Amino acid sequence: MKVAIVGGAGRVGVNAAFSLLLSGLANEIVLVDILKDVADGEALDLRHGVSLIGNVTLDSGDLKKVKGSDIVVITAGSRRKPDQSRLDLIRINVGILDEAVDAVKKLAPKSIIFVVSNPVDVLTYRALTRSKFPRERVIGLGNVLDMVRFRSLIAAKFGWNPLDIRADIIGEHGDAMVPLWSQATYGGILFKNLTSVTMAELKQVFEETRVSGAEVIRKKGGAGWAVGVSITEVIKAIATDSKAVLPVSTDPGGAYGISGISLSLPTIVGKGGAEGYLEFELPKAEMDGLKKAAEVLKETYGKI
Ligand SMILES: NC(=O)c1ccc[n+]([C@@H]2O[C@H](COP(=O)([O-])OP(=O)(O)OC[C@H]3O[C@@H](n4cnc5c(N)ncnc54)[C@H](O)[C@@H]3O)[C@@H](O)[C@H]2O)c1
Repeated sequence: MKVAIVGGAGRVGVNAAFSLLLSGLANEIVLVDILKDVADGEALDLRHGVSLIGNVTLDSGDLKKVKGSDIVVITAGSRRKPDQSRLDLIRINVGILDEAVDAVKKLAPKSIIFVVSNPVDVLTYRALTRSKFPRERVIGLGNVLDMVRFRSLIAAKFGWNPLDIRADIIGEHGDAMVPLWSQATYGGILFKNLTSVTMAELKQVFEETRVSGAEVIRKKGGAGWAVGVSITEVIKAIATDSKAVLPVSTDPGGAYGISGISLSLPTIVGKGGAEGYLEFELPKAEMDGLKKAAEVLKETYGKI
């Protein structure tokens, strides 16, 4: 599998490349970036480790190198500054995204476009409308990182096994994200039925999760490691056709009554990309939150 990372010399791109390299899922990884020397240097540095990992080709260059990719991850763009809203970045990042999507359309027309740059939901929808690819093949990281952070922070707080936690977040990768409290479980037991912790304590962890991205930016300049493994998790679902349920961002095309914007739903991810959704009746508060996320995102998209 060939994976190109556009923005591959940046923090997120390199962290994704490193995580992907260790995963053994790709046999070809290409770092595309306008910072040519940095991309070359990162590819060389990664290539130096290959003899301990496996037969993986590392390459770097400009957008021509997306040719023939199975997945094109787009991490190019500007980084969110402390206290800057994700949505402030929109105008800068749309131009960068358009250029990348045009190249993908021409050189990798069968690929899956996987948007990570922010604001991710808006840019994912932009990539869909610009590429005219089928909906299944244009996905965004959406709430995957939020979900990963949420489970990890819960585990750290209560000493739980993170792999036994199933707690999802859907909606917007931003303030209108919606935790699915009604479905969240630990060891198969609904959170609300556990006697060892209270919902108030769990809700406190969600509040910490909500602001922890900004904390990482404030302390080290930008997120990297956790977003790298989150990107690899989505690529794993595609590469292994696992049908994993992940909150990637897509245009739901009418699922949950939503269309005309990309946002995160419990999505079945396999070799075709976003192959379907887990649809079930959400409690009113969660459904209202999801509708609100769609409205907020549509309003932002309208500003492009
Ligand atoms: N969706 C998420 O969960 C999530 C999480 C973290 C970061 N992000 C987003 O990912 C993006 C990248 O973050 P970062 O920390 O890696 O930033 P960064 O500044 O380290 O890297 C961005 C890279 O994009 C490159 N670039 C800019 N214009 C380009 C172009 N036209 N073609 C190719 N490359 C180009 C830059 O040279 C740079 O190397 C940001 O938009 C950030 O907000 C999203």
